[in-house]
Amino acid sequence: MKRVATEKIGKLAVVRNVQDLRRRVAQWRHAGETVALVPTMGALHAGHLALVDRGRALCDRAVASIFVNPKQFAPSEDFTRYPRDEAGDAAKLWGARCDLLYAPDVAEIYPEGFATSVAVGALGEVLCGRFRPGHFTGVATVVAKLLLQAQADLACFGEKDYQQLQVIRRMVRDLDIPVRIEAVPTLREADGLALSSRNAYLSPQERLVAPALYRVLAELAQRLGSGEASVFALLEEGRAALSRAGFTKIDYVELVDAETLSPLERRDRPGRLVAAAWLGKTRLIDNLAIAATP
Ligand code: PAJ
Repeated sequence: MKRVATEKIGKLAVVRNVQDLRRRVAQWRHAGETVALVPTMGALHAGHLALVDRGRALCDRAVASIFVNPKQFAPSEDFTRYPRDEAGDAAKLWGARCDLLYAPDVAEIYPEGFATSVAVGALGEVLCGRFRPGHFTGVATVVAKLLLQAQADLACFGEKDYQQLQVIRRMVRDLDIPVRIEAVPTLREADGLALSSRNAYLSPQERLVAPALYRVLAELAQRLGSGEASVFALLEEGRAALSRAGFTKIDYVELVDAETLSPLERRDRPGRLVAAAWLGKTRLIDNLAIAATP
């Protein structure tokens, strides 16, 4: 088999095109090893590394990808200022026992003439999709490509981006992409704030307010369990509590069906409490599981 050219950043092997990625993964799989893929946009934190750990626990090899995907950012969004630190990320991945970094450039993923997109219907249009039109089509398109490029056995995604996880699960089922999707629980700071690359945008003052998103959701989850008030009233209280805490704009606080993401009407199905809210120029999201009531 043809040797793969070896570029390294620090100690971590890096490939930058599909052929090299496929050759490396094929070598492992021919040797009987299983491979996990962890797609990211870089600016890595412990939440991303938890995905690598999970991949490494379930497979013999872990490949991480770093690609800041222009198709999932609206023109008004933070594509150009999205944090980028390839050398720092490579060191973190090496520390997490990642075997390979796939870091393609935009022309590798979207060569001239690229015309296809993957839209996952209503799942991508509700919740964040209402506020970020086209975002989940951009996500599904790039994730479909990354999964088909890497041809790994398994791919890890975080529950932090719960809607994204459901969109990807649906797409993989609908398109028969031969990969197992593994969901990893949200990693949080000690004060409850979900780790996110965008937390770096928060001012010290905003950082103090940010954990209220998790606190409010956790309190709502508990009160939903006790059945003390109507779901509608509780969600309304949740929105008010976020405003009082200092969030400058509330996109949504909803209780949805954990799989279809439509408003949860019957409490005998697993639900998900989901929220998106702004602190100044930074949009934060979070979510919690709500067990079905018998
Ligand atoms: P990114 O925001 O870099 O996240 C990469 C992966 O890390 C996603 O699966 C995300 O859910 C997971 N993740 C982020 N913060 C986490 C946390 N605190 N705990 C657990 N997992 C966490 O999500 C994307 O990139 C992109 O949309 C991508 C899927 C790579 C497609 O471009």
